Amino acid sequence: MEKVLVTGGGGFLGRAIVKQLLHKKIRVTSFSRGRYQALEQMGVDQIQGDLTDAQAVMAAVNGMDTVFHVAAKPGLWGSYDSYYRVNVTGTRHVIDACRAQGVDKLVYTSSPSVVFNDSHMENVDESVPYPDTYLAPYPKTKAMAEKLVRKASEQGFLSIILRPHLIWGPEDNHLVPGIIKRAGKLKMVGPTDDLVDTIYVDNAAWAHILAAEKLEQNPELSGRIYFISQDEPVSKWQMANAFLKAAGLPPVKGHVSAGVAYAAGWFFETVYKALRIQKEPPMTRFAARELATSHWFDITRAKKDLGYYPKISTQEGLKQLEQYLSRKNQTHLKN
Ligand SMILES: NC(=O)c1ccc[n+]([C@@H]2O[C@H](COP(=O)([O-])OP(=O)(O)OC[C@H]3O[C@@H](n4cnc5c(N)ncnc54)[C@H](OP(=O)(O)O)[C@@H]3O)[C@@H](O)[C@H]2O)c1
Repeated sequence: MEKVLVTGGGGFLGRAIVKQLLHKKIRVTSFSRGRYQALEQMGVDQIQGDLTDAQAVMAAVNGMDTVFHVAAKPGLWGSYDSYYRVNVTGTRHVIDACRAQGVDKLVYTSSPSVVFNDSHMENVDESVPYPDTYLAPYPKTKAMAEKLVRKASEQGFLSIILRPHLIWGPEDNHLVPGIIKRAGKLKMVGPTDDLVDTIYVDNAAWAHILAAEKLEQNPELSGRIYFISQDEPVSKWQMANAFLKAAGLPPVKGHVSAGVAYAAGWFFETVYKALRIQKEPPMTRFAARELATSHWFDITRAKKDLGYYPKISTQEGLKQLEQYLSRKNQTHLKN
């Protein structure tokens, strides 16, 4: 790896990957719609463009030897079309550009939600099939994108797919702030002892670097999919409480049944759709199912093929998160 493109290099995971690449003295370019001061300060070349624009993607990929395709439209709300254009068409543009420009290898960031089948998933490995239906456009379009990458690898294009679950850590812009924002209003959903996998952001970033390096050493890994995690399933409410504690906030109180949460998700989705409300509803059917089930994965394959292990323990990660939130709070108070 000498010249690397990270799509979404200014995002939460993308930035962590960029930092680790820079640490290895690799020249990095980021591609996204926005321009990021943090990347500028790190000396990262930035190309502003939209994944939905094939020509912009083609130009960004020019001259690269490795692409980390991290950018996506995340979240659980928005039209199917808006997800499809970024996650599916955007990924097709990245693959086409890589092949046209002779890029050696691609690491694609997927998500375990592509195989979530609305029921408990305990210690499942990568052989678990895709479900027939999805409750939200995000997992559906991420699965379609994953299939595009798999197809390209069957045709000889070197690529690896990673499925990190619930990424968290300093600078998180989704999970941790989502929990903090709802502090005092959050309620536990379904069985409280269900386990989930999570992954500290720097571990997820490291897995991406390992994937690119191992793919270079062993092209036979191409087309493989890997779950990656802290390898330490935890109760989701215990983890939510650990995030709240790191922010100096009290734990989640109260409980609703899985059925009530699902009905609330259905209700909010119906009302928000009817009234064309853009904001994400407080509950969706997909979130209700995810909150009321276990989902943790066997990461033996990532350990064996990539040499991955959670370098940063959950305890250490929480310490880093606490320090970050406290610094952020102090800056906020000063301003
Ligand atoms: N966070 C998690 O817990 C989690 C779990 C599993 C998988 N993942 C996957 O990990 C990846 C990164 O997620 P993240 O949490 O780091 O999300 P994030 O912080 O929201 O980053 C997403 C990045 O994608 C870029 N992007 C979005 N739409 C774009 C478009 N149309 N054209 C160009 N760039 C676009 C955004 O930049 P601009 O807005 O500036 O364009 C942003 O930098 C995604 O593929 C996601 O599916 C995340």
